[in-house]
Amino acid sequence: MREQHVLLLCLFVSYASIIKSSYLHEGDECKLEHKGNYSKFPEDFSFGVSTAAYQVEGAWNEDGKGPSIWDTYTHLHPERIADHSNGDEAAESYHRFAQDLVALKELKVNFYRFSISWPRVLPRADTRVQNQKAIDYYNMMIDKLLENNIEPMVTMFHYDMPEELTKFGGFTNNIVIKYFRYYADFLFKTFGDRVKKWITFNEPFDYCVPGYGNADFPPMIHAPGVADYLCLDNTLKAHASAYRLYKAKYSNYQKGKVGITISSRFYYTNNPDFGSEDIVDRAMQYSLGWLAHPIFGESGNYPFTVIEDITSNSMKEGLAWSRLRPLNLYWSKIVRGSGDFLGLNYYSSRFVHMAEPPGGEIPSWEHDSRLKYSVDKRWKRAKSDWLYCVPQGLEDILKWIRDNYNNIEVYITENGWSDEGELDDTDRIDYLKSHLQAVLNAINDGCNVTHYTHWSLIDNFEWNRGYTEKFGLYYLNVTSKNKERVAKNSASYYRSVIESRKLS
Ligand code: BGC
Repeated sequence: MREQHVLLLCLFVSYASIIKSSYLHEGDECKLEHKGNYSKFPEDFSFGVSTAAYQVEGAWNEDGKGPSIWDTYTHLHPERIADHSNGDEAAESYHRFAQDLVALKELKVNFYRFSISWPRVLPRADTRVQNQKAIDYYNMMIDKLLENNIEPMVTMFHYDMPEELTKFGGFTNNIVIKYFRYYADFLFKTFGDRVKKWITFNEPFDYCVPGYGNADFPPMIHAPGVADYLCLDNTLKAHASAYRLYKAKYSNYQKGKVGITISSRFYYTNNPDFGSEDIVDRAMQYSLGWLAHPIFGESGNYPFTVIEDITSNSMKEGLAWSRLRPLNLYWSKIVRGSGDFLGLNYYSSRFVHMAEPPGGEIPSWEHDSRLKYSVDKRWKRAKSDWLYCVPQGLEDILKWIRDNYNNIEVYITENGWSDEGELDDTDRIDYLKSHLQAVLNAINDGCNVTHYTHWSLIDNFEWNRGYTEKFGLYYLNVTSKNKERVAKNSASYYRSVIESRKLS
């Protein structure tokens, strides 16, 4: 077995060196200076890794699982996936959790962030049909993790909505709030005796805008500036309802924490015309702030700028109502304060400019925000065309959160780098190191950041990019029979950080 591993490793290293240079690195910068006194992570700081059900589980129609919108979409539209692949098998984690566990133990992580597939446990989306085999699977995972001193951190929704819900509009119909609340109740009841960290939704922007705005993701609705905003609104209310339910019914004896994960970049400007602080703030309100402001801000509502712009644009377009209805008092009370922590997915940053005239379709997020982005040529680029290494952005966004949301506790729930799967993944190590440096610098500046999660444990199905962009600390050849997880150099680097609690 060991020999096989070595052979595999040699074959792979030579293959990787051939392909390494085939994609573009625009710049070389991926470093961050150490600032302040902290050279070590605090004793209670937690390190983890993350995956998501559709990206790793496979077994898409086994043991009573219902279809998700990603099953339907990849089957009906293979042409939309870079390599025409899908998550039917993926890393087969549904059958191979034992292999994932070996990797997790090798890394010595403190916690594992994974997601539960809603249509696997509730194939028809509501609680009338509960799939016992799926419940057994997640129970087994949770128990094995705890036996090995690895804390489970569970994402309740990571893009894979039950197909059933699209029959009546998915996230555009506010009945989804009820469905999600019942799903959450079922999860808290079934797993909450052992799961103490819950994330309701992963990156609402990243499924609402592509799913209901520009039709890049399922359910492929093209209604920008309307349906994507409804999706965000219903997600926010569903999140807050689940949070309130936990507080009312479970938190007394389960004593867990519930939060939401929002993705955001940080923004920089060199445009003196608009007032640099204003434009950075505007860009932040149109990204992180859209959902974080109602939950963690003072007003219990969407950011003022966003409400104002969209109301005035809606009028100009001849509508008698705003495409973004502010939260009413009833909802405002439920939403405000509905997070024990903020989950932050940070990958990259951008320069921001005001677009004159505004770009994008009328209406759309792009048109409403009037924002335009660019990158610095010195930043190093990953295999993914959107991913540039900007560790300073992580330090700065953490400070922005500290200053704007009363220093709420932050879990970095994702941060990672893509390449072609090299085992000698120096670029991933540079990225990881510089971003951990950013976290240390932010802690030194009083930011309340307590968890860091690397995306991802293993190479997996990267949505529309299929298996062409790899984010794993462990290499996975999806076409191999036994789906071996092979440690990349970054895995041993991360382990050494976790063991020593400092950067080398
Ligand atoms: C998502 C992951 C995805 C990663 C890299 C995040 O936005 O949560 O599912 O694989 O980015 O694109």
